[in-house]
Amino acid sequence: MSEKVIIFDTSLRDGEQSLQSSLSVKEKLQIALALERMNIDVMEVGFPISSPGDFNSVKVISNTIKNVKICSLARCVDKDIDVAADAMSGMDNSRIHIFLGTSNLHMQYKLRKNFDEILSMAVRSVQRAKRYTDDVEFSCEDAGRTSIDNLCRIVECVIASGATTINIPDTVGYTVPNQFYNIIKSLYEKVPNIDKAVISVHCHDDLGMAVANSISAIMAGARQVEGTMNGIGERAGNAALEEIIMTIFARSDILDVHTDINKKEIYRTSKIISQICNMPIPANKAIVGSNAFAHSSGIHQDGILKNRENYEILSPVIIGLKDVQLNLTSRSGRAAVRYRMTQMGYKDDEYDINKLYVSFLKLADKKGQVFDYDLEALAFINNHQEHPEYFRLDYFNVKSSSTGSAKASVTLICGNDIKTKSATTSNGPVDAVYQALSKISGYSILLQKFQLFAKGKGKDALGQVDILVEYKKRKFHGIGLATDIIESSSKAMVNVLNNIWRANQVTLKLNKFNV
Ligand code: KIV
Ligand code: ZN
Repeated sequence: MSEKVIIFDTSLRDGEQSLQSSLSVKEKLQIALALERMNIDVMEVGFPISSPGDFNSVKVISNTIKNVKICSLARCVDKDIDVAADAMSGMDNSRIHIFLGTSNLHMQYKLRKNFDEILSMAVRSVQRAKRYTDDVEFSCEDAGRTSIDNLCRIVECVIASGATTINIPDTVGYTVPNQFYNIIKSLYEKVPNIDKAVISVHCHDDLGMAVANSISAIMAGARQVEGTMNGIGERAGNAALEEIIMTIFARSDILDVHTDINKKEIYRTSKIISQICNMPIPANKAIVGSNAFAHSSGIHQDGILKNRENYEILSPVIIGLKDVQLNLTSRSGRAAVRYRMTQMGYKDDEYDINKLYVSFLKLADKKGQVFDYDLEALAFINNHQEHPEYFRLDYFNVKSSSTGSAKASVTLICGNDIKTKSATTSNGPVDAVYQALSKISGYSILLQKFQLFAKGKGKDALGQVDILVEYKKRKFHGIGLATDIIESSSKAMVNVLNNIWRANQVTLKLNKFNV
């Protein structure tokens, strides 16, 4: 059996300290529960001396989380250590994490102490923490810029004083993988009592190398890795745990280690942390970005459908996502369109793939991404004679003011009919138009998402409105483009009404076939 790498999450300490506004206890608890479901080994949940709020959240989390070791941070200051212990009192499964700068820069300019003074502070603090718990972690802050001789000396002394985990942080994200590998290797070669402690690493991402450095450290023998979900943390952030965990999994052939993480919870935990911390995840972020498993180009989609391994090193299912994700855009090929139709239950002889593909490309050019209901509607239209949009916007008139309500009157061409309705609301002109449109169509719809984007620059910019609507438990998407944002909003809703109308025609047709 391969050796285990302990996964130490500091999203609630290093991650949280970098946020624009601090999290409430309830929010921290929600994150802690998600990390517990992910089966994280150690969770650093705060720096209790830093504020009464932090002390309280460490206390609440310690009392709630039962299956993960809880850790609190302290400087090499007696009061810090006592307060960290107090915040976790009553817990059997706790760790005190103490840290002290060991680089020349930190010793000289931050702490104003020489190395011997640093050594004795470290030893005294480890001994003090040991009064409260057997599990004491010591971090040599700025280890990446600490001389290797000093690093070896302090590591040997704190292990001799009882530290059970020695953390080697690259506090400022300065090292490169080969150099960091050599630091860890030197510790194993030069520190005589190194086998009495677990060697941990904690890398920051200032040069974008936090994950690479952490993986190099594992190759050199480190058996605990610290980081945060989504890589949140000071400045450019910490090593992203989801990337480290999945690298250990995907490259077990060369790393020969494992973790006990419940990987199925990775995606959900990442989303929860992103939402609570108000830190959006870039679409192309490894493992958890919305594009991380999505295949867009025709060649890639075709390759994936022939054999997943052509373009996929990991299955999205492992981290709790759905299976193959093909973005249907103008770059998609016939194979992807056919695959999607088959997934929706259509047999090849129920539609003409060539015709469908031509109309799919036209729509994709206009709209960007093509959704399932668009494909269904295109297939339906292709199978029957082409007909124009059922609903067409003829005219609208809106009146609104900052003090009163908004009123809209809308005229819509509905097949061969022309209908006009009005609505008044205190929610502004767009809502008034939407209410009038809903009255005309008779569809009972619920607006779920409304997004407005500027297309182009200056006075020529167009307003593009994207909306998502729920109708009879199905989601319908609509887009409208115009220089006037009320007009683009109206067009987006008319687009939705047409999509609903087409979907209803498909249903009617299918019901007829069944009879
Ligand atoms: O980056 C760092 O050095 C730290 C220590 C407190 C471990 O966060
Ligand atoms: Zn840090």
